[in-house]
Amino acid sequence: MCGIVGYAGRRPGKPVILEGLRRLEYRGYDSAGIALIEDGGIDVVRAVGNLDCLVAAAGEDPSSAVVGLGHTRWATHGRPSEENAHPHADCSGRIQLVLNGIIENYQELREDLSEAGHTLSSETDAEVVVHLIEDQIGRGLAEAVRAVVPRLDGHFAFCAIHADEPDIVVGTRRQAPLVVGVGDGEMFFASAIPAFLKHTRRTVVLDDGDVVTLRAGGAEYTDVAGQPLLREETEVTWDADAAERGGFETFMLKEINEQPAALRDTLAGRLSEDGCADLSEVGMGDEFLRRLRRIFIVACGTSYHAGLVVSYAIEQLARVPVQIDVASEFRYRQPVFDPDTLVIGITQSGETADTLAAMRLAREAGSPVLALTNIMGSQATREADHVLFTRAGLEIGVAATKTHTAQVAALLLLALRLAWARGAQPEAELTRLGRELRAIPENLEQLFSWGQDSVKEIAGRYHDERFFLYLGRGMGFAVCLEGALKLKEISYIPTEAYAAGEMKHGPIALLDEKSPVVIVADDSPVFPKLVSNIEEVRARGADVIAVATEGNERITELSRDVLWVPATDHHLAPLLTVVPLQLLAYHIAGIKGLNVDQPRNLAKTVTVE
Ligand code: AGP
Repeated sequence: MCGIVGYAGRRPGKPVILEGLRRLEYRGYDSAGIALIEDGGIDVVRAVGNLDCLVAAAGEDPSSAVVGLGHTRWATHGRPSEENAHPHADCSGRIQLVLNGIIENYQELREDLSEAGHTLSSETDAEVVVHLIEDQIGRGLAEAVRAVVPRLDGHFAFCAIHADEPDIVVGTRRQAPLVVGVGDGEMFFASAIPAFLKHTRRTVVLDDGDVVTLRAGGAEYTDVAGQPLLREETEVTWDADAAERGGFETFMLKEINEQPAALRDTLAGRLSEDGCADLSEVGMGDEFLRRLRRIFIVACGTSYHAGLVVSYAIEQLARVPVQIDVASEFRYRQPVFDPDTLVIGITQSGETADTLAAMRLAREAGSPVLALTNIMGSQATREADHVLFTRAGLEIGVAATKTHTAQVAALLLLALRLAWARGAQPEAELTRLGRELRAIPENLEQLFSWGQDSVKEIAGRYHDERFFLYLGRGMGFAVCLEGALKLKEISYIPTEAYAAGEMKHGPIALLDEKSPVVIVADDSPVFPKLVSNIEEVRARGADVIAVATEGNERITELSRDVLWVPATDHHLAPLLTVVPLQLLAYHIAGIKGLNVDQPRNLAKTVTVE
């Protein structure tokens, strides 16, 4: 999740843009850059590391430039480096561009541009856009942007400047955030409002496909065809902190709501329209995948739960045996490694000591290691032979949410790729699953559109309970483990998650009148078995709170409350069923007045063993 700032004004733009980037730091990044139109050219400074590095590189010397761009980069394509940092230039250096998002068809555009004689100097997907603009620049910057947008697949927002049109900044968006700030004799572009909130509260929220030309005195709004558009100004009432949380009361709630975007980013360029999974970027060819005899998954906490969820799908779809273990146990149990056993280390931060040590152990023993992480340049990327990145953006809330579902989505891509490579399922079945996986971000948006009244009502009823039991079968059981962890880590209520079939062998003794029992009961082949477990729970007078697939009438007869999720294939359902559990934990902790972003005794990254 990169951060963009654009400025066209009357006062020196350098400090305004750097301040704006500072305000976007919470979005996370690994490098940054600034471009200022000055003396007939464009001054560009880029630096790897945090904003202080860019400020130091930009130096103290004042600049009289009143038009410019700034960018904080969250690497998705190309490691953190000065060459890969934005702004990116065309061959002449007289056009500069900053972009947030993913250009899915950048490979083929890159080939076309190189054949046409362009020299591309970075590993990024974004750079192709400025070279495409270069080919159209004769028509003027705004017209060139309008001509280029239809050629791009993916979701993005970008802004560009041109030394020959020194008083304008042109920007556009498609399924990535870009807002306009309306100042007094100055105009702003930004990925998020905090970047210009210090200067103005007047904003214009853009629609997908809007192409906007900013000048100090105002803005022109058109669609891609050049038709003028009217765009309404709104007054922002948030304070700076709330703005950083995107208007949400906490970072955790913001990140829960960012899951559709995190999944869209994580799937982008890796799942074709017809549902074919492509992980060629990871460097594990089909020959390698066919040779695999076994998979070990090692991780901690919420990452472990993501691995457990998908271990079922890998075995069921790809027919590869999977063993999964918490890293702190795995590394001391002297596991048996061999070259045909792939070891997958899952760690969103990329810095969790136990997981890193388990990966190191496997590699030293000759097993190929794949790291699944959310942070480019993290230690995990150096402890692995192959790296698959989730693209959830920086997660600030200690309780992992969007990185969890992004991990599950990335691993499901691997399960599909494995099944393709091994011919383990009919191609029609795999393309159907691929297409359903591509639809999950929309399913999640639909789920959020249903509102949170029911989960808030349930939270209100049970927030002062002394114990919760979570029950599920198969992937639903793994989702219960994650839901229970969320409730434990932010509401501090003792919570047990159990395989539903195992309940009668002990934990059923914990139940009494009104005990809240949360059951993950989406439409899956094990649902009929789950019904008998629900009957056992009801027979003890406990309250059943079910997470179920919309349209399932049977579950309403069996449950006091139902939290509905949209229908999807049961291998993909954990991407939906975990969300009501995240929200239940969130609202219970909220009612208890607890600090959900920074729970007691917990750190976001556990670097101690
Ligand atoms: C989850 O909400 C917790 N923050 C914790 O369990 C976390 O998942 C665990 O520490 C693993 O972190 P990692 O993914 O960064 O390795």
